[in-house]
Amino acid sequence: MNSVSPSLISPDIPTQPQVSTPLKLGIMASGSGSNFEAVAQAIQNGQLNAQIQVLIYNNPDAYAAVRADKWNIKSVLINHRDYKYRKDLDKQIVQTLRSHDVEWVIMAGWMRLATQTLIDAFPDKIINIHPSLLPSFKGVGAIEQAIEAGVKITGCTVHLVCLEMDSGKILMQAAVPVLPDDNPDTLHTRIQIQEHRILPAAIGLAAKG
Ligand code: GRF
Repeated sequence: MNSVSPSLISPDIPTQPQVSTPLKLGIMASGSGSNFEAVAQAIQNGQLNAQIQVLIYNNPDAYAAVRADKWNIKSVLINHRDYKYRKDLDKQIVQTLRSHDVEWVIMAGWMRLATQTLIDAFPDKIINIHPSLLPSFKGVGAIEQAIEAGVKITGCTVHLVCLEMDSGKILMQAAVPVLPDDNPDTLHTRIQIQEHRILPAAIGLAAKG
C-alpha cells in the first residue's frame, strides 16, 4: 500500500502572529461542541489571542452548552424551531452576537445555513469548519459521502462563510487518510483530531488578514 506523507496528513500549523488585542469571538454550535472546546483550549494555551464572548447553540440538549459551563463561558440558546423564517432566526443571532460585542463568528458544528442577514452583519468575518476537503463533499453527510465515493484521502476545511453552502474562501485544510475498514465514526474521530488543530490556527490567520 502506498504510504501518505505525514506532512500532507498533518500540516505544520504556523504560529499565530500575535495581535495586540484579543479577538472577540462568538461561537455557534449545534451538538457536541468539541471544536468549541478546542478553541477555548487554544486560547488558554496561549496559541490563539482571543476571548470567547458567547456560545450560541440551537439544540436544547447540545453538549456544547455543558462545555461552555465548564469553561465559564456564557451560552445562549436560540432554538431554530421557534422561528418560522430563517431570516428571523439570523436576526436574533445577529442581535445576540452584537450585544456580546462579537467581532468574529465561528460556526463550530453549526448545522444551519446562513442567510444574507447574518452574512451582511459580519462581512468576511464568519468562519466555518467542514469535515471534508472542500470543494469535495459539501453539505450534510460529508464523511459518509467520502466513504461512499471510495476516496483514499479526505480531511477537513476551515473556510469563510458565504451564501452558497460550504463554498466560501478556503483558509486552511488538513488531510486524513481513509482506511480500508473505516466507518463514519472511526473516520470522523480521526478527522476531528485535525479539526481541533486547524480551527484555532485558521481563526488566528484569518484575523491577521
Ligand atoms: C465537526 O465535525 C464539523 O466539521 C461539522 O460538525 C462537527 C461538529 O463537531 N461541521 P463538534 O460539535 O465540534 O464536536
